[in-house]
Amino acid sequence: MGMEEDDITESKKTEEKPIKWSDDYAIGIERIDREHKMLFRIVGDFRVALSEGGGEQTYDVLLQALEAFCHGHFGFEERCMEEYHCPMAQKNKSEHVKLQELLFEFQQLYSTNGYDQREAFKLIGILEQWLTDHICRIDVHLKNCVKE
Ligand SMILES: [Fe+2]
Repeated sequence: MGMEEDDITESKKTEEKPIKWSDDYAIGIERIDREHKMLFRIVGDFRVALSEGGGEQTYDVLLQALEAFCHGHFGFEERCMEEYHCPMAQKNKSEHVKLQELLFEFQQLYSTNGYDQREAFKLIGILEQWLTDHICRIDVHLKNCVKE
């Protein structure tokens, strides 16, 4: 690993802007929308905190916050999908499981190898993509199920 790779990481991380909530993501169930907004804020704030030099402690808090938050949020959203007979209920559940497995992998890596800033930025990047993608593709179906 040479200087070059570090330079790329440096420039990349300052270019990235924190993700922002948009009303296009709204589903119409107050608690879910509120929690989705919070997830956007958590991920956005942590990108800023890491970019501003937050290190191990920031990452540690991020991992713990995500674990606790996702547990409660996913459970509630899954129950809503079942209640409204959303056709995406199963797919939603399996994507939640996959994300939680991924979080677990990052936790394992951290407790085994210690803190690595690149891993922290990698997780943030994955979460940013996952959030927008998952909400637009899966969670948004709940909107129509509630209306019917
Ligand atoms: Fe979901």
